[in-house]
Amino acid sequence: MIVVTGATGNVGRTLVRLLAGTGEQVTAVARHITQADVPESVRAVAADLSDVESLRPALERADALFLLVAGEDPQGLVGAAKAAGVRKIVLLSSQGAGTRPQAYRHAGMFEEAVRESGLGWTILRSGGMASNAYAWAEPVRLHRTAAASFGDMGLPFIDPDDVAAAGAAVLREAGHDGATYVLTGPAATSPRERAAAIGQALGEPVRFVEQTRQEAHEQMAQFMPLPVVEGTLAILGEPTPEEQRVSPDVERILGRAPRPFGEWAARNAAAFR
Ligand SMILES: NC(=O)c1ccc[n+]([C@@H]2O[C@H](COP(=O)([O-])OP(=O)(O)OC[C@H]3O[C@@H](n4cnc5c(N)ncnc54)[C@H](OP(=O)(O)O)[C@@H]3O)[C@@H](O)[C@H]2O)c1
Repeated sequence: MIVVTGATGNVGRTLVRLLAGTGEQVTAVARHITQADVPESVRAVAADLSDVESLRPALERADALFLLVAGEDPQGLVGAAKAAGVRKIVLLSSQGAGTRPQAYRHAGMFEEAVRESGLGWTILRSGGMASNAYAWAEPVRLHRTAAASFGDMGLPFIDPDDVAAAGAAVLREAGHDGATYVLTGPAATSPRERAAAIGQALGEPVRFVEQTRQEAHEQMAQFMPLPVVEGTLAILGEPTPEEQRVSPDVERILGRAPRPFGEWAARNAAAFR
């Protein structure tokens, strides 16, 4: 049994379907999940990663756990997994845990707990995801505009379906224990180019609007903790060479190149229509 947390999110939803499609027994976890959110063969269990006790029923009969960085007690979550008989944890972390350890201390704490668990583990450090462009869904739908700061700064954003595919592979295959992978897309794209790609997917131009750093800060602070806002803005505005680099790890895991942003936009055009 594989337990997938974050099962209704951009990554988790696809991961649950991929695993179920290969015949794995899957338990899907999120705070607000119901059985209607998952394929018939999958067990849905509502649990909050901020409350270790709430996760225990989901972990019954679990061999492997796909874990998100959420809540404040990584040791407790890892302990509950061990007590339930889990043998392997795959942690979805952030590239920033490696490149900006101060700003991403929270993810760093989860990485440390997983590394020291005594279980098999693999850490997936994802770069920025293509699905962050959903923040543009409403302005694109309403007036065909997309606003962001650092409009011409390129970063190799990754398709969340590729994160899910990498997750499924490392959960199911041997040979990934003790590995920390950095997951990126196949090429750097700038916010201006991503807005244009969404326009192309729609068949109508999308106007890019350059935001100031302050405007971007105010917007992000509505849904991210402040250190993560600062770290994210630093990556978006002043990326290190490592953060701009295309990582070979998706291809190493999947045996194929990661998908370009334009493909994500084409598959998800309905959200912007
Ligand atoms: N977006 C990026 O650029 C990026 C980059 C690097 C790493 N990441 C990491 O990747 C993770 C997954 O990304 P995503 O796009 O799939 O996220 P998402 O679409 O926002 O989905 C988050 C999922 O986690 C669940 N969840 C959130 N808090 C929870 C909690 N306390 N307990 C249990 N479940 C909880 C949500 O469902 P409920 O709300 O119902 O609980 C949902 O299923 C993020 O959490 C982030 O740590 C993201």
